[in-house]
Amino acid sequence: MNFEQLWLTYVKKENNKEICGIRHIYADCDNPTATHGAEELLLALEVMTGSKPVLHKTPMGDDAEEKNAESAEIIDRIKLCIVPGMKAESYHIYENENWIMIEASDGKGILYGAFALIRQMQREKSLKGLNVFKEPAAPLRMLNHWDNMDGSIERGYSGNSFFFENNEIIVNERTKTYARLLASISINAVVINNVNVKDNATCLITDRYFDKLKELSESFAGYGIRLFLSLNYAAPMELDGLDSADPLQEDIKQWWREKMAEVFTKIPNLGGFLIKADSEGRPGPFTYGRNHADGANMLAEAAEPYGGLIIWRCFVYNCRQDWRDKKTDRARSGYDNFMPLDGEFKDNVILQIKNGPMDFQVREPVLPLFGGLKATNQMLEVQIAQEYTGQQRHVCYLIPMFKEIMDFHTYVAKEKDTVCDIVTGRTFGHTNCGMAAVANTGNDANWTGHDLAAANLYGFGRLAYEPELTAEEIASEWIDLTFGKDEEIKQILLFILINSRGIYEKYTSPLGIGWMVNPAHHYGPSVDGYEYDRWGTYHRADHLGMGVDRSDKGTGYAMLYNEPNASAYNHMETCPEELLLFFHHVPYTYRLKNGKTLIQHIYDTHFEGAAEAAQMRKQFETLKDRLPEKIYKRIDERLLHQEEHSKEWRDQINTYFYRKSGIMDELGREIY
Ligand code: GCU
Repeated sequence: MNFEQLWLTYVKKENNKEICGIRHIYADCDNPTATHGAEELLLALEVMTGSKPVLHKTPMGDDAEEKNAESAEIIDRIKLCIVPGMKAESYHIYENENWIMIEASDGKGILYGAFALIRQMQREKSLKGLNVFKEPAAPLRMLNHWDNMDGSIERGYSGNSFFFENNEIIVNERTKTYARLLASISINAVVINNVNVKDNATCLITDRYFDKLKELSESFAGYGIRLFLSLNYAAPMELDGLDSADPLQEDIKQWWREKMAEVFTKIPNLGGFLIKADSEGRPGPFTYGRNHADGANMLAEAAEPYGGLIIWRCFVYNCRQDWRDKKTDRARSGYDNFMPLDGEFKDNVILQIKNGPMDFQVREPVLPLFGGLKATNQMLEVQIAQEYTGQQRHVCYLIPMFKEIMDFHTYVAKEKDTVCDIVTGRTFGHTNCGMAAVANTGNDANWTGHDLAAANLYGFGRLAYEPELTAEEIASEWIDLTFGKDEEIKQILLFILINSRGIYEKYTSPLGIGWMVNPAHHYGPSVDGYEYDRWGTYHRADHLGMGVDRSDKGTGYAMLYNEPNASAYNHMETCPEELLLFFHHVPYTYRLKNGKTLIQHIYDTHFEGAAEAAQMRKQFETLKDRLPEKIYKRIDERLLHQEEHSKEWRDQINTYFYRKSGIMDELGREIY
């Protein structure tokens, strides 16, 4: 089949005596997920050593082959063992008298431990003295696919869906490899269909699709992954012709009770549902004068007997705004809609909150529902499909940005107040919480279109399980695993990845203002593309300055944060400069902390960003003989496109603001 194995590409380690010594695996666990752990070790070791170790499905007791004196020093066996009492999904790997032990709470822990050991071996880190104990941080570590049933993917930049084609569900070798890839980075939940549920996708909760969904969910279950579906809130009307979807109406409640009973019985491994309601034209409880708690709780009550979760998205805003209206602020809407409902949601409801108040821009402040909500289960939603960050044609490693978001202090509590603390349950003791990423995969051979975009998929999973890892550590791991142990490759790719977000930010929209993209497809520069539109996304530039006044004198958005964040954002002098235009309308002549005027900053960063994009490609080209030709060519083509496209960004942005402001570049560079 035409697809690659990404970071599960193993290579021979024939000169590594430690790895080659391992000849036995003892898997004393009668558990399908743990068995997959043993199989993964066999698979990896077979490639690395050239022959398959022996699998013993017994405890390592009397029948364990005796070591002779000269082999006594060699690690020759791995033992997998489920140990009751450990935290769910955790593992402990250690070396013990020349064998490696993987102890875990459950099958998932064994599987994650097995992959952790494989990583160690792939990277040729010594196994002697190994002692690693890991517990998951976020309980739910989830991917959201925006795949449509006709095979297209909303905001998909790496081919078509590998879950759907012509309104049918696909279960095959690729979906199995997908599950293995996810298990290797500890992802434990997946939504396979688009949040915009229309047409046939509404029928996923009917007989027509149950058999295939059951098959897929069982295949996922073996790898510790729970299947979720996006739900159409108006399903009772669209599927059964009811005249309403009012959450407080008894016949609607009864319809959902019966539907949930049917769905959870037919798809036993189903985790629950993701719902986009009253958002961008999707149906929801507003139509009936009800609120989001009414809607979510109605579904949650029906799903509760089956342990089902209702994940309700907070991406709710007025998408029919008049651009002349300066009082309405899209940034406020998530907070204004959901904050008054804090404490009203049932325990099996989780609010899924985008990282920022707008929509996955390259720079946004953290959405203040984090730090506002105290009595509601919360999940962070990020997007690794790079809709606004280069669409997997530009390289943009997003893990540094995710780290910033997770490390943000909300001041909701005296300690344990970061976004990471909240979504891992540390702040409020919640257990229904976690992290979701809008997926960046498709049926391209390399899964993510841009080979380097796979680092975002890998990184998201690693970060959700172990948020203490740094963005550099994650990138290094991914490079080693994907491209093998080669210092030269590592140094150059690491440089590219770590700097990529900053470079992208420099040549696109400045200082947190966002947007300035072509409407609809969102690719490439168009400064006024959204300026006179209905979507609530404006830069408000005139001949004197630009930016949106969200201070207490403007829309008041800055005041939605807890102190001291509110005061810091509220004043131009204390506002973090990278967010200055998000929070303030600023004159072009305003001096930034480094003494440069705003307009000069715009010119400088855009010239720098485009030059750095060119530099990235130059650096990459030194790897021509070190990487497989196919991969080298694929990446080089995209870096070339990025270099050209960054110039388009540079020139359109610089020209636009030069023409608006009439202020020349101090360095006299070419602006049109
Ligand atoms: C963005 C994106 C849409 C998507 C929406 C969402 O607006 O452009 O395609 O449906 O986010 O998150 O629901």
